[in-house]
Amino acid sequence: MPGLTVRHWPDAGDTAAIRYLAAWAPPAGLLASLPNLDLVFSVGAGVDHLDLAAVPAHVPVVRMIEPGLVRGMVEYAVFAVLALHRGMLGHIARQRQGTWGDADPVTATPARRIGVLGLGVIGSAVAARLVSFDFTVAGYSRTPRSIDGVDTFAGDANLAAFLARTDILVNVLPLTDTTRGIIGTATLARLPRGAGLVNIGRGGHVDDAALLAALDSGQVGGAILDVTAQEPLPAGHPFWQHPRVLLTPHIAGTTDVGGGAAAIAEQILRHRRGDALTGVVDRQAGY
Ligand code: GLV
Repeated sequence: MPGLTVRHWPDAGDTAAIRYLAAWAPPAGLLASLPNLDLVFSVGAGVDHLDLAAVPAHVPVVRMIEPGLVRGMVEYAVFAVLALHRGMLGHIARQRQGTWGDADPVTATPARRIGVLGLGVIGSAVAARLVSFDFTVAGYSRTPRSIDGVDTFAGDANLAAFLARTDILVNVLPLTDTTRGIIGTATLARLPRGAGLVNIGRGGHVDDAALLAALDSGQVGGAILDVTAQEPLPAGHPFWQHPRVLLTPHIAGTTDVGGGAAAIAEQILRHRRGDALTGVVDRQAGY
């Protein structure tokens, strides 16, 4: 954007001149030092790391929607679902033990029921891509959605039915006061025995103790976790060594610098023209 002056904190210069802030987790007090803000951009898809209460009510907060991030999330979800579908955690464990395992019976993809928890921009793209592998795919969201080839469930009353038909659960929810801890004992117990879990949402969605108990009882057969409640995961946490947990360090989807800059520039131009913005956070809902 020729003509746009970009300042990189902490070299903020005259803070009264700053109209737009792009940030992940702004340091305490930074927002209060910018009296003339028009927009706040999250450089990630989530906004749970932003203190929304510190952003003046008249300043819209815009979350990151850009193709590179979505592509990464879809790619990781496909990898993780295929890994659980083909029993890769068992194969890895047997390799480590030097054991040539028996061939596990292969389940055909149409017989494998995937459930995508959260059908926003990312969840919808994940669900659509999994359909292309011929999995039987359902999705759950707070408000009703419609996606080609995906059986959609909406609202609290339908969560149990969604879980009961889900062999591999893929969490893509935003972290809010409503969704925190949603993957706990009750949710895990509703899944069919031996179900798989993929978490690419936030660690705060999962009750770690409940997941460990479900893994140890066989209620959950394997978990692929890209996010944990505390990041980095503390040394000694049972997830590190668990034979049926595959852990990655919050790398599923990252904002592409070029794509992210283009997305922010587009929103600034819209704002200047007085057009509606996309990806504005609903402060009430928290995402
Ligand atoms: C990453 O976790 C993001 O919110 O983009």
